[in-house]
Amino acid sequence: MTSRFPYVFSPFRIGPVELRNRIFVPAHTTNYGVDHLPSDRHVHYHAEKARGGAGLIIFEAIRVHPTSIGRAQGVIGYDPRGVPAFRRVADAVHAEGTRLFGQIVHVGRHAEGHFGRTPTWGASPIPWTPGGPIPHEMNEDDMEAVVAAHVLTARHLREAGLDGLEVHFGHGHLLQQFLSPASNVRTDAYGGSEENRLRFPLGVLQAVREAMGPDFPVGIRISAEEFMAPGLGLEDMQRMVPTIAAAVPIDFVNVSHSAYIAHYSLATQMADMHFPRAAFRYLPAGIKAVVPHLPVFAVCRFNRLELAEEVLAAGEVDLVGMARAHIADPFLLAKARAGRLDEIRPCIACNQGCIAMIELHQPVTCLMNPTAGREAEWGEGTLTTAAVRRRVLVVGGGPAGLEAARVAASRGHDVTLWEREFEVGGQVNLAARIPTRREFTYARTFFEEQCRRLGVTIECGVEATVDRVLAFRPDAVVLATGARPKLLAIPGAAHVFSTWEALLKPAALGHHVAFIEADGNWQSVATAEHLAELGKRVTLITGGVAYGARITIYSMLAVRPRLREKKVRVMPLRAVRAVEGRAVVLEDLSTGEPDRLDGVDSIVAAVGGVAEDRLAHELRGRVPELRMVGDCVAPRTALEAIFEGHAVGRAV
Ligand SMILES: Cc1cc2nc3c(=O)[nH]c(=O)nc-3n(C[C@H](O)[C@H](O)[C@H](O)COP(=O)(O)OP(=O)(O)OC[C@H]3O[C@@H](n4cnc5c(N)ncnc54)[C@H](O)[C@@H]3O)c2cc1C
Ligand SMILES: Cc1cc2nc3c(=O)[nH]c(=O)nc-3n(C[C@H](O)[C@H](O)[C@H](O)COP(=O)(O)O)c2cc1C
Ligand code: SF4
Repeated sequence: MTSRFPYVFSPFRIGPVELRNRIFVPAHTTNYGVDHLPSDRHVHYHAEKARGGAGLIIFEAIRVHPTSIGRAQGVIGYDPRGVPAFRRVADAVHAEGTRLFGQIVHVGRHAEGHFGRTPTWGASPIPWTPGGPIPHEMNEDDMEAVVAAHVLTARHLREAGLDGLEVHFGHGHLLQQFLSPASNVRTDAYGGSEENRLRFPLGVLQAVREAMGPDFPVGIRISAEEFMAPGLGLEDMQRMVPTIAAAVPIDFVNVSHSAYIAHYSLATQMADMHFPRAAFRYLPAGIKAVVPHLPVFAVCRFNRLELAEEVLAAGEVDLVGMARAHIADPFLLAKARAGRLDEIRPCIACNQGCIAMIELHQPVTCLMNPTAGREAEWGEGTLTTAAVRRRVLVVGGGPAGLEAARVAASRGHDVTLWEREFEVGGQVNLAARIPTRREFTYARTFFEEQCRRLGVTIECGVEATVDRVLAFRPDAVVLATGARPKLLAIPGAAHVFSTWEALLKPAALGHHVAFIEADGNWQSVATAEHLAELGKRVTLITGGVAYGARITIYSMLAVRPRLREKKVRVMPLRAVRAVEGRAVVLEDLSTGEPDRLDGVDSIVAAVGGVAEDRLAHELRGRVPELRMVGDCVAPRTALEAIFEGHAVGRAV
């Protein structure tokens, strides 16, 4: 299969370091740190990706200074206790033939100071978001400390056996805060002109380069576009990168984009499924054009090797980063090499298991791949054949049932899955009716195809009843019967539509839709956006201060401008009390005063689901083993459904 991806599988050299192919795993914070140091979990996590064939892994943001910790599990590099811990990761990665670089960073103004009881540092006293900490404007002593901290961290990483490192000039972290006129309004030698704004970042880079010597790869990660005004754009970076490279010898430029600011910009960094694949490939291509002699890396939404091959073959860049694609499937390269492309578990760019967990200060995992972050217990080779082959009946072909069936079948069980509809997929089929959410379809198709490959008997159009289940004589039953939408009754309203009805029959809604948003999740937000996309006037009513409360900010920052563009009016802090003709009678929860929305044609309510658990009550005690997974336990999301399906597939 290497012939299908000749560029992907060609080796590449960065300074003295030889990479076996041109795919790297970009740095991504995992929240696996223990006591701010790399943990066993890191070792297993990265070893798995190395076994899976990645040419290069760039370890997550390694914080260089106490003012940069910012999160409970953030990994630091300035503590000498880190050297043996980093060495364990490096050894594990090297043992599989992969190279390991570090990423050294001071995050600047977006580090909350709770972890070291430190003030927040920045170029200027401008917070990254309204309500964020106001940074202390760094003086030259502070800058000196940060230069020394970068050098100390770099020395530790080299001592630990890492093969190279990148200094973070991007993602709105401290050095970008100095580079960008959006965050640097200083009037001293470090602000104003481009030359001045470059002074401190170049000082850091120069010191690291000198400390590492010429034979240790040192590169930079940049944001080639901040996507905001006043901010840095591609043209600015096309000027700055050659200036940087002329001032300090660097071995590569890793090109990303975005600034860390509560703005659309941040949502581009981990572009979700609403963004086209490889949407930002013009940025690294634009940088390569001005530094053709330097290796340039591309990243973001390269979730298919075909895309990586395309940009490599076009000569746009030298290496392609696949971060989330590797979280979803650490073995994607090994599978491609073996010609098993169909078995690559795709990243659907949902952001739910990975970056959403970072926001929640939880360990990173993956909606599509529940084994991510659990490699020691659930990683490659841990799915062993069951001691006794059992007859397992799975009821329900949503993501929970499909994953339970897939895992049980791969352990050698005789698995049958019943689905009452004429196709499997459950609610995923509804979600995927929304064109911009179509990538969600893989939460059905990938698992369905693997089930078929493993010999699961899938029978659609079969409704499980107690009698049918008992007649089947299963050794174990897994109920994955999902949920239905909760219906809302409002005094005076003839009918309140559910999201399901709204998606299936949008024409029945008329033009002006009052959309009651109470689940805070994609089911409501994506449906409301879709209705607006269809040309309807949508008024979003929520009892909270904001809608989409359960969706990660890394996606919400792009949702808000999209809804604004579609003229979706948001009425926060409102409770619906009644309907009078075409008017919805509301209460303003901030003042307790009445409010109204006139001229409404229909009301859609997204108020959560009701678990389909009747069969569970009826079967309890009547089959040898009964288990429940997914929304039929409690209505939630596909993240929990697939996780529970996986766990039960291992347990039956
Ligand atoms: C519009 C919409 C958008 C959504 N967007 C997202 C999103 O962006 N991210 C996310 O994580 N989640 C999203 N969800 C929620 C997610 O789809 C569900 O949480 C997930 O599908 C639950 O999986 P499940 O397998 O437990 O149940 P379901 O998907 O509900 O599947 C249950 C299956 O069981 C079948 N069944 C029920 N009873 C029987 C029976 N007696 N016999 C045979 N078959 C039976 C049903 O027909 C159904 O196919 C969305 C849901 C909707 C409706
Ligand atoms: C969970 C998560 C954590 C991340 N943490 C970092 C980080 O520590 N440093 C960094 O430079 N980029 C970080 N990123 C950004 C990625 O390196 C990458 O640029 C981004 O995910 C887009 O690439 P992808 O589409 O291949 O995932 C993170 C991304 C994710 C999903
Ligand atoms: S959680 Fe979603 S976006 Fe993140 S890696 Fe998994 S599939 Fe991709």
